[in-house]
Amino acid sequence: MPEPKVVKWGILATGGIAETFTKDLTVDPKTRGVTSIKHEIAAAASSSSISRADDFLKKVGAPSSAKAYGSYQELVNDKDVDIIYVATPHSHHYQNARLCLEAGKNVLCEKAFTVNEPQLRKLVEIAKAKNLFLMEAVWTRYFPLSIYVREQITSGRIGTVYRTVADLSMADDPQNKYGPDGNKHRMVNVDLAGGALLDLGIYALTWVFQTLYHTLPEGDRKAPSVLSTMVKYEPTGADESTAMLLTFPRDAKKGGPMHGIATTGLRTSINPDNKGTAGPCVRVYGDKGEIQIFPPTFRPTKTKVILADGTVEDKVWEQPGPGKGSGWTNGFGGTMQAEGEGQGMFWEADEAAMAVVEGRKEGRFEGLEESCVIMGVMDEVRNQNGLVYPEKIESLEYPLEF
Ligand SMILES: NC(=O)c1ccc[n+]([C@@H]2O[C@H](COP(=O)([O-])OP(=O)(O)OC[C@H]3O[C@@H](n4cnc5c(N)ncnc54)[C@H](OP(=O)(O)O)[C@@H]3O)[C@@H](O)[C@H]2O)c1
Repeated sequence: MPEPKVVKWGILATGGIAETFTKDLTVDPKTRGVTSIKHEIAAAASSSSISRADDFLKKVGAPSSAKAYGSYQELVNDKDVDIIYVATPHSHHYQNARLCLEAGKNVLCEKAFTVNEPQLRKLVEIAKAKNLFLMEAVWTRYFPLSIYVREQITSGRIGTVYRTVADLSMADDPQNKYGPDGNKHRMVNVDLAGGALLDLGIYALTWVFQTLYHTLPEGDRKAPSVLSTMVKYEPTGADESTAMLLTFPRDAKKGGPMHGIATTGLRTSINPDNKGTAGPCVRVYGDKGEIQIFPPTFRPTKTKVILADGTVEDKVWEQPGPGKGSGWTNGFGGTMQAEGEGQGMFWEADEAAMAVVEGRKEGRFEGLEESCVIMGVMDEVRNQNGLVYPEKIESLEYPLEF
């Protein structure tokens, strides 16, 4: 068997998700059957200090060869880095991802990709012009569970699909959860493009899109029409609850238009007891059956296929990792996975690394056009409900300091 190709990662930002993602990078890909690539943490950068980057590298278990930088500029200048993972708040993605692309680096950028569609189209234009890889880090798309769900649809197992209903709500009420300074938290701070839609609603949209849009032959995929309503979080004006009804065009001979219903909110939870007692958070309806996906929407581990002929198929999709007894753990936001079980962010990292090695410029399970269409839907939802972010973060201007 040929030796795995080593892909060298640079980590841009040292916050919560950067830590989780980078820890997942340390898991040997062979534990999930991936033998063609290997991840190496080459460097990490903090915008505040080199010592923060240094502490970050120690915390995630990076090799001693990994370099710490006290600025993002130094990271993008590092010739030893093949691809950069951007993990700043979404307000900063356009500036930070562009910094990487302008320096000739491949990019995997956290969700939401940018603040608006024009910003993303600009990044895509630069990536294409410079022949670089660019992908949105919507990790859920790359899970074997998601691949299975899409295959159930494309194989016709649940017949012709007509509707997907998906929710991601997290009871992230900032007044209760984030203390007296809660209004500055990135979940509701408009200076950081806060609000349920861009942070959580993107996952509800991900399920709607990967079941109703991505499963169509490429030439049949068309942007949906959008009807939406939003409740604002009074202290800041960010959205705390958003409901979207999308209509996807489809040829009458193939079943006609489909509905996608995507909801998100900060006061209720899709998984109130954190034990999976709640019902499905995603339901995909066909004329011969349905597929249910169980919470949490971003990291589901259970599916159920229910067919009109009486078949019921339950599946459990545990995330792989170093395994029990390894002493290794990962998780996010206070939720730790069982010992030895990965968070699951390595699947998107594998896809990005394989693309870099193979010379592909986009991810296979969510191409750049699809990301642009989703950003366009979120723009339309904000437009219908008067949610405008400060000019500096909506801007196409580059470089901007804020
Ligand atoms: N895929 C997932 O499961 C998942 C989960 C949570 C969040 N996310 C996404 O990841 C991104 C970051 O979220 P997070 O929860 O990691 O946020 P976080 O904990 O607040 O970390 C953000 C990091 O960005 C850097 N940063 C640069 N400029 C900043 C500024 N003006 N304000 C705040 N931070 C700034 C900071 O690191 P340095 O300055 O040290 O570089 C900071 O630690 C968001 O886009 C979010 O939507 C994804």
